[in-house]
Amino acid sequence: MSYRIEEVAFEDLPEDELAEILALVNRGSHEESPRHVNLTLDEFRMFSTGPGFIQRRFRVVDETGRVVAFSNTRYHDDGSDPEVLMCQIRVDAEVRRQGIGTLLLGNAIGVARSLGRNTLQLYHYDTVPAAAAFIEVIGAKPVLQMHVNTLKLDDLDVELMNRWANEGPSKAPGYRADLYEGRWPEEILEGMARLYFILDRDSPQAEGHEPREWTADLIRQFLDTFMAGVDSLMALAVHEESGVPVGMSQLIRRRTDLSKWIVTTTMVDPDHRGKSLGRWIKGVVNLAALDRWEGGVYQETANAQINAPMLAINHEMGFEHEYTFFESEVSVDRASEFVAARQN
Ligand SMILES: CC(C)(COP(=O)(O)OP(=O)(O)OC[C@H]1O[C@@H](n2cnc3c(N)ncnc32)[C@H](O)[C@@H]1OP(=O)(O)O)[C@@H](O)C(=O)NCCC(=O)NCCS
Repeated sequence: MSYRIEEVAFEDLPEDELAEILALVNRGSHEESPRHVNLTLDEFRMFSTGPGFIQRRFRVVDETGRVVAFSNTRYHDDGSDPEVLMCQIRVDAEVRRQGIGTLLLGNAIGVARSLGRNTLQLYHYDTVPAAAAFIEVIGAKPVLQMHVNTLKLDDLDVELMNRWANEGPSKAPGYRADLYEGRWPEEILEGMARLYFILDRDSPQAEGHEPREWTADLIRQFLDTFMAGVDSLMALAVHEESGVPVGMSQLIRRRTDLSKWIVTTTMVDPDHRGKSLGRWIKGVVNLAALDRWEGGVYQETANAQINAPMLAINHEMGFEHEYTFFESEVSVDRASEFVAARQN
Protein backbone atom coordinates (compact mmCIF):
# COMPACT_ATOMS: atom_id res chain seq x y z
CA MET A 1 0.00 0.00 0.00
CA SER A 2 1.32 3.47 -0.77
CA TYR A 3 0.43 6.60 1.14
CA ARG A 4 0.38 10.28 0.32
CA ILE A 5 0.47 13.36 2.55
CA GLU A 6 -1.97 16.20 1.97
CA GLU A 7 -2.04 19.52 3.77
CA VAL A 8 -5.52 20.40 5.07
CA ALA A 9 -7.07 23.66 6.25
CA PHE A 10 -9.91 22.86 8.65
CA GLU A 11 -11.81 26.04 7.66
CA ASP A 12 -12.08 24.86 4.03
CA LEU A 13 -12.63 21.16 4.61
CA PRO A 14 -16.08 19.65 3.83
CA GLU A 15 -17.82 18.31 6.92
CA ASP A 16 -17.43 14.61 6.00
CA GLU A 17 -13.68 15.01 5.51
CA LEU A 18 -13.29 16.80 8.82
CA ALA A 19 -15.39 14.05 10.45
CA GLU A 20 -13.00 11.40 9.10
CA ILE A 21 -10.02 13.15 10.70
CA LEU A 22 -12.00 13.59 13.91
CA ALA A 23 -12.81 9.86 14.03
CA LEU A 24 -9.09 9.10 13.83
CA VAL A 25 -8.31 11.65 16.55
CA ASN A 26 -11.05 10.18 18.79
CA ARG A 27 -9.66 6.66 18.32
CA GLY A 28 -6.25 7.96 19.35
CA SER A 29 -7.65 9.75 22.39
CA HIS A 30 -9.34 6.50 23.54
CA GLU A 31 -6.01 4.76 23.36
CA GLU A 32 -4.41 7.49 25.50
CA SER A 33 -7.25 7.76 27.96
CA PRO A 34 -9.84 4.95 27.98
CA ARG A 35 -12.56 7.14 29.55
CA HIS A 36 -12.34 9.62 26.68
CA VAL A 37 -15.79 10.66 25.44
CA ASN A 38 -15.70 11.34 21.71
CA LEU A 39 -15.47 14.96 20.66
CA THR A 40 -18.29 16.15 18.45
CA LEU A 41 -17.55 17.98 15.20
CA ASP A 42 -18.46 21.31 16.80
CA GLU A 43 -16.14 20.68 19.72
CA PHE A 44 -13.36 19.61 17.39
CA ARG A 45 -13.71 22.84 15.39
CA MET A 46 -13.76 24.98 18.53
CA PHE A 47 -10.98 23.22 20.41
CA SER A 48 -8.63 23.10 17.44
CA THR A 49 -8.82 26.79 16.68
CA GLY A 50 -6.01 27.42 19.19
CA PRO A 51 -5.60 31.21 19.37
CA GLY A 52 -1.99 32.28 19.75
CA PHE A 53 -0.68 29.66 17.31
CA ILE A 54 -0.02 29.37 13.62
CA GLN A 55 -0.93 25.83 12.63
CA ARG A 56 -0.33 23.62 9.62
CA ARG A 57 -2.11 20.29 9.47
CA PHE A 58 -1.55 17.22 7.34
CA ARG A 59 -3.45 13.99 6.70
CA VAL A 60 -2.10 10.79 5.24
CA VAL A 61 -4.38 9.04 2.75
CA ASP A 62 -4.02 5.46 1.47
CA GLU A 63 -4.61 4.30 -2.13
CA THR A 64 -8.32 3.85 -1.47
CA GLY A 65 -8.65 7.44 -0.23
CA ARG A 66 -8.99 6.49 3.45
CA VAL A 67 -7.38 8.80 6.02
CA VAL A 68 -4.95 6.72 8.09
CA ALA A 69 -2.86 9.34 9.89
CA PHE A 70 -2.91 12.98 10.88
CA SER A 71 -0.38 15.48 12.09
CA ASN A 72 -0.52 18.98 13.40
CA THR A 73 2.45 21.33 13.45
CA ARG A 74 2.22 24.66 15.22
CA TYR A 75 4.21 27.53 16.65
CA HIS A 76 3.54 30.69 18.64
CA ASP A 77 2.30 33.62 16.57
CA ASP A 78 4.08 36.25 18.70
CA GLY A 79 7.68 35.25 17.99
CA SER A 80 8.23 33.53 21.36
CA ASP A 81 10.00 30.14 21.36
CA PRO A 82 11.46 30.86 17.89
CA GLU A 83 13.46 27.63 17.80
CA VAL A 84 10.56 25.26 18.42
CA LEU A 85 8.03 23.60 16.14
CA MET A 86 5.37 21.72 18.11
CA CYS A 87 4.34 18.56 16.40
CA GLN A 88 1.62 15.97 17.00
CA ILE A 89 1.63 12.76 14.98
CA ARG A 90 -1.14 10.15 15.03
CA VAL A 91 -1.14 6.97 12.98
CA ASP A 92 -4.18 4.65 13.07
CA ALA A 93 -3.37 1.48 15.05
CA GLU A 94 -3.90 -1.00 12.20
CA VAL A 95 -1.42 0.70 9.85
CA ARG A 96 1.46 1.21 12.28
CA ARG A 97 5.03 -0.02 11.72
CA GLN A 98 4.84 0.73 7.99
CA GLY A 99 6.82 3.95 8.09
CA ILE A 100 3.87 6.39 8.18
CA GLY A 101 5.02 7.97 11.46
CA THR A 102 8.45 8.44 9.88
CA LEU A 103 6.83 9.95 6.77
CA LEU A 104 5.04 12.53 8.92
CA LEU A 105 8.19 13.19 10.91
CA GLY A 106 10.02 13.92 7.64
CA ASN A 107 7.19 16.26 6.68
CA ALA A 108 7.41 18.09 10.04
CA ILE A 109 11.16 18.45 9.52
CA GLY A 110 10.41 20.13 6.18
CA VAL A 111 8.00 22.56 7.90
CA ALA A 112 10.58 23.30 10.63
CA ARG A 113 13.35 23.94 8.11
CA SER A 114 11.14 26.24 6.03
CA LEU A 115 10.55 28.30 9.18
CA GLY A 116 14.18 28.23 10.36
CA ARG A 117 13.21 26.27 13.49
CA ASN A 118 15.75 23.79 14.85
CA THR A 119 13.83 21.84 17.50
CA LEU A 120 10.81 19.57 17.21
CA GLN A 121 8.65 19.21 20.30
CA LEU A 122 6.56 16.01 20.42
CA TYR A 123 3.92 14.74 22.85
CA HIS A 124 2.90 11.32 24.08
CA TYR A 125 1.25 9.44 26.95
CA ASP A 126 2.72 6.52 28.88
CA THR A 127 -0.51 4.64 28.12
CA VAL A 128 0.70 4.27 24.50
CA PRO A 129 3.88 2.14 24.47
CA ALA A 130 4.29 2.53 20.67
CA ALA A 131 4.69 6.27 21.13
CA ALA A 132 7.45 5.90 23.72
CA ALA A 133 9.27 3.48 21.40
CA PHE A 134 8.99 5.90 18.47
CA ILE A 135 10.17 8.85 20.58
CA GLU A 136 13.20 6.91 21.70
CA VAL A 137 14.20 5.60 18.30
CA ILE A 138 14.06 9.03 16.65
CA GLY A 139 16.40 10.38 19.36
CA ALA A 140 13.91 12.63 21.17
CA LYS A 141 14.37 13.20 24.90
CA PRO A 142 11.61 13.93 27.43
CA VAL A 143 11.87 17.54 28.66
CA LEU A 144 8.72 17.74 30.78
CA GLN A 145 6.55 15.17 32.51
CA MET A 146 2.99 16.05 33.42
CA HIS A 147 1.18 13.77 35.86
CA VAL A 148 -2.49 13.44 35.06
CA ASN A 149 -4.09 13.15 38.51
CA THR A 150 -7.69 12.25 39.17
CA LEU A 151 -10.11 12.38 42.09
CA LYS A 152 -13.50 10.67 42.26
CA LEU A 153 -16.08 13.24 43.26
CA ASP A 154 -17.55 10.81 45.80
CA ASP A 155 -14.20 11.11 47.56
CA LEU A 156 -14.07 14.91 47.43
CA ASP A 157 -13.87 16.11 51.03
CA VAL A 158 -16.66 18.68 51.17
CA GLU A 159 -15.82 19.59 54.75
CA LEU A 160 -12.24 20.39 53.73
CA MET A 161 -13.47 22.53 50.82
CA ASN A 162 -15.79 24.41 53.20
CA ARG A 163 -12.92 24.93 55.63
CA TRP A 164 -10.60 26.26 52.89
CA ALA A 165 -13.31 28.62 51.62
CA ASN A 166 -14.37 29.80 55.08
CA GLU A 167 -10.88 30.31 56.48
CA GLY A 168 -9.80 32.35 53.44
CA PRO A 169 -10.75 35.84 54.69
CA SER A 170 -9.02 35.41 58.05
CA LYS A 171 -5.85 33.84 56.57
CA ALA A 172 -5.60 36.44 53.81
CA PRO A 173 -7.04 39.72 55.08
CA GLY A 174 -7.21 42.39 52.37
CA TYR A 175 -8.16 39.89 49.66
CA ARG A 176 -11.46 38.59 48.36
CA ALA A 177 -12.49 35.61 46.23
CA ASP A 178 -14.87 36.37 43.34
CA LEU A 179 -16.71 33.63 41.49
CA TYR A 180 -17.27 33.78 37.72
CA GLU A 181 -19.59 31.42 35.91
CA GLY A 182 -19.38 31.19 32.12
CA ARG A 183 -17.65 33.79 29.96
CA TRP A 184 -15.28 36.11 31.82
CA PRO A 185 -16.36 39.76 31.67
CA GLU A 186 -14.32 42.36 29.75
CA GLU A 187 -13.20 44.19 32.87
CA ILE A 188 -11.06 41.30 34.14
CA LEU A 189 -9.38 40.36 30.84
CA GLU A 190 -6.27 42.55 31.34
CA GLY A 191 -5.85 41.05 34.80
CA MET A 192 -6.32 37.52 33.42
CA ALA A 193 -3.68 38.15 30.75
CA ARG A 194 -1.26 39.20 33.52
CA LEU A 195 -2.00 35.99 35.47
CA TYR A 196 -1.47 33.80 32.38
CA PHE A 197 1.84 35.53 31.70
CA ILE A 198 2.97 34.79 35.27
CA LEU A 199 1.79 31.18 34.95
CA ASP A 200 3.63 30.78 31.66
CA ARG A 201 6.77 32.36 33.16
CA ASP A 202 6.78 30.47 36.47
CA SER A 203 5.24 27.05 35.93
CA PRO A 204 7.60 24.18 35.12
CA GLN A 205 8.31 24.17 31.40
CA ALA A 206 10.84 22.65 29.04
CA GLU A 207 14.27 24.24 29.48
CA GLY A 208 14.72 27.31 27.30
CA HIS A 209 10.96 27.97 27.11
CA GLU A 210 10.09 31.66 26.81
CA PRO A 211 6.78 32.97 28.14
CA ARG A 212 4.63 34.32 25.35
CA GLU A 213 3.04 37.74 25.21
CA TRP A 214 -0.39 37.50 26.85
CA THR A 215 -2.90 40.23 26.02
CA ALA A 216 -6.56 40.85 26.77
CA ASP A 217 -7.18 40.28 23.06
CA LEU A 218 -5.60 36.83 23.14
CA ILE A 219 -7.74 35.92 26.18
CA ARG A 220 -10.79 37.23 24.30
CA GLN A 221 -9.99 34.97 21.32
CA PHE A 222 -9.62 32.06 23.72
CA LEU A 223 -13.06 32.85 25.18
CA ASP A 224 -14.53 32.99 21.67
CA THR A 225 -13.14 29.59 20.69
CA PHE A 226 -12.15 26.92 23.24
CA MET A 227 -14.01 28.39 26.20
CA ALA A 228 -17.17 28.91 24.16
CA GLY A 229 -17.42 25.11 23.95
CA VAL A 230 -17.24 24.37 27.68
CA ASP A 231 -18.93 25.27 30.97
CA SER A 232 -16.61 27.22 33.23
CA LEU A 233 -16.47 28.14 36.90
CA MET A 234 -13.59 30.27 38.10
CA ALA A 235 -12.65 31.64 41.50
CA LEU A 236 -10.50 34.73 41.29
CA ALA A 237 -8.44 36.01 44.23
CA VAL A 238 -8.39 39.81 44.15
CA HIS A 239 -6.13 42.15 46.12
CA GLU A 240 -8.80 44.53 47.41
CA GLU A 241 -6.79 47.73 47.76
CA SER A 242 -5.42 47.65 44.21
CA GLY A 243 -8.30 45.69 42.66
CA VAL A 244 -5.71 43.50 40.92
CA PRO A 245 -6.44 39.77 40.37
CA VAL A 246 -3.63 37.80 41.99
CA GLY A 247 -4.74 34.18 41.66
CA MET A 248 -7.21 31.94 39.89
CA SER A 249 -8.62 28.43 40.05
CA GLN A 250 -10.79 27.22 37.20
CA LEU A 251 -12.91 24.13 36.61
CA ILE A 252 -14.39 23.39 33.21
CA ARG A 253 -16.49 20.58 31.79
CA ARG A 254 -17.37 19.67 28.24
CA ARG A 255 -21.08 19.90 27.52
CA THR A 256 -20.91 16.42 26.00
CA ASP A 257 -19.16 14.87 29.00
CA LEU A 258 -20.66 16.03 32.28
CA SER A 259 -18.88 13.21 34.13
CA LYS A 260 -15.49 14.92 34.03
CA TRP A 261 -14.50 18.19 35.66
CA ILE A 262 -11.18 19.45 34.37
CA VAL A 263 -8.98 21.66 36.51
CA THR A 264 -7.45 23.92 33.87
CA THR A 265 -5.41 26.20 36.08
CA THR A 266 -4.79 27.00 39.70
CA MET A 267 -2.17 29.66 40.29
CA VAL A 268 -1.24 32.43 42.70
CA ASP A 269 1.04 35.36 41.83
CA PRO A 270 4.37 34.74 43.70
CA ASP A 271 4.10 38.22 45.30
CA HIS A 272 0.92 37.07 47.07
CA ARG A 273 1.79 33.51 48.07
CA GLY A 274 1.98 32.09 51.58
CA LYS A 275 -1.50 33.32 52.58
CA SER A 276 -3.50 30.19 51.67
CA LEU A 277 -5.05 31.99 48.68
CA GLY A 278 -4.64 28.82 46.58
CA ARG A 279 -6.66 26.76 49.06
CA TRP A 280 -9.26 29.51 49.40
CA ILE A 281 -10.00 29.71 45.66
CA LYS A 282 -9.83 25.91 45.26
CA GLY A 283 -12.44 25.60 48.02
CA VAL A 284 -14.69 28.26 46.47
CA VAL A 285 -14.62 26.81 42.97
CA ASN A 286 -15.18 23.22 44.13
CA LEU A 287 -18.14 24.20 46.32
CA ALA A 288 -19.64 26.13 43.40
CA ALA A 289 -19.29 23.14 41.08
CA LEU A 290 -20.79 20.77 43.65
CA ASP A 291 -23.71 23.14 43.96
CA ARG A 292 -24.29 23.82 40.24
CA TRP A 293 -23.01 20.90 38.18
CA GLU A 294 -24.92 17.64 38.20
CA GLY A 295 -23.62 14.41 36.74
CA GLY A 296 -19.99 14.83 37.74
CA VAL A 297 -18.08 11.61 38.48
CA TYR A 298 -14.45 12.67 38.78
CA GLN A 299 -12.10 15.59 38.33
CA GLU A 300 -8.85 15.58 36.49
CA THR A 301 -5.79 17.79 36.65
CA ALA A 302 -2.40 17.75 34.96
CA ASN A 303 0.53 18.80 37.12
CA ALA A 304 4.19 18.99 36.30
CA GLN A 305 5.75 16.20 38.27
CA ILE A 306 8.21 18.74 39.75
CA ASN A 307 5.53 21.25 40.81
CA ALA A 308 5.67 20.48 44.54
CA PRO A 309 3.34 23.25 45.89
CA MET A 310 0.54 22.37 43.47
CA LEU A 311 0.95 18.65 44.04
CA ALA A 312 0.80 19.23 47.81
CA ILE A 313 -2.65 20.86 47.53
CA ASN A 314 -3.87 18.18 45.13
CA HIS A 315 -2.63 15.31 47.31
CA GLU A 316 -4.30 16.93 50.30
CA MET A 317 -7.54 16.86 48.28
CA GLY A 318 -7.02 13.17 47.49
CA PHE A 319 -5.96 13.35 43.82
CA GLU A 320 -4.08 10.26 42.66
CA HIS A 321 -1.68 9.82 39.78
CA GLU A 322 -3.35 8.00 36.89
CA TYR A 323 -1.07 8.40 33.87
CA THR A 324 1.72 10.60 32.57
CA PHE A 325 2.01 12.95 29.63
CA PHE A 326 5.46 13.67 28.18
CA GLU A 327 6.79 16.58 26.20
CA SER A 328 9.93 15.53 24.31
CA GLU A 329 12.36 17.36 22.08
CA VAL A 330 14.69 16.39 19.28
CA SER A 331 16.86 18.60 17.12
CA VAL A 332 15.80 18.82 13.50
CA ASP A 333 19.27 17.58 12.48
CA ARG A 334 19.03 14.49 14.69
CA ALA A 335 15.51 13.67 13.48
CA SER A 336 16.66 14.13 9.86
CA GLU A 337 19.41 11.58 10.37
CA PHE A 338 16.78 9.08 11.54
CA VAL A 339 14.52 9.75 8.56
CA ALA A 340 17.42 9.65 6.07
CA ALA A 341 18.64 6.32 7.46
CA ARG A 342 15.14 4.86 6.92
CA GLN A 343 14.98 6.07 3.34
CA ASN A 344 18.18 4.25 2.36
C1 LIG B 1 4.09 6.80 17.48
C2 LIG B 1 3.44 6.55 16.14
C3 LIG B 1 3.15 7.90 15.48
C4 LIG B 1 4.39 5.74 15.25
O1 LIG B 1 3.80 5.58 13.97
P1 LIG B 1 4.27 4.41 12.97
O2 LIG B 1 3.66 4.70 11.65
O3 LIG B 1 4.03 3.08 13.56
O4 LIG B 1 5.85 4.69 12.92
P2 LIG B 1 6.91 4.03 11.96
O5 LIG B 1 6.36 2.85 11.24
O6 LIG B 1 7.46 5.12 11.10
O7 LIG B 1 8.01 3.52 13.00
C5 LIG B 1 9.34 4.00 13.01
C6 LIG B 1 10.11 3.23 14.05
O8 LIG B 1 9.65 3.56 15.37
C7 LIG B 1 9.83 2.41 16.22
N1 LIG B 1 8.53 1.96 16.70
C8 LIG B 1 7.32 2.44 16.36
N2 LIG B 1 6.34 1.76 17.03
C9 LIG B 1 6.96 0.84 17.79
C10 LIG B 1 6.50 -0.16 18.69
N3 LIG B 1 5.19 -0.34 18.90
N4 LIG B 1 7.42 -0.94 19.31
C11 LIG B 1 8.73 -0.78 19.09
N5 LIG B 1 9.23 0.15 18.22
C12 LIG B 1 8.35 0.95 17.59
C13 LIG B 1 10.45 1.33 15.37
O9 LIG B 1 11.86 1.47 15.45
C14 LIG B 1 9.96 1.72 13.99
O10 LIG B 1 10.75 1.20 12.97
P3 LIG B 1 10.55 -0.37 12.52
O11 LIG B 1 9.08 -0.61 12.37
O12 LIG B 1 11.28 -0.44 11.22
O13 LIG B 1 11.16 -1.19 13.60
C15 LIG B 1 2.13 5.73 16.34
O14 LIG B 1 2.39 4.62 17.15
C16 LIG B 1 1.00 6.50 16.94
O15 LIG B 1 0.27 7.20 16.25
N6 LIG B 1 0.80 6.44 18.29
C17 LIG B 1 -0.29 7.12 18.95
C18 LIG B 1 -0.18 8.64 18.85
C19 LIG B 1 0.99 9.16 19.62
O16 LIG B 1 1.18 8.88 20.77
N7 LIG B 1 1.80 9.99 18.94
C20 LIG B 1 2.96 10.57 19.55
C21 LIG B 1 4.14 10.28 18.69
S1 LIG B 1 5.29 11.55 18.78
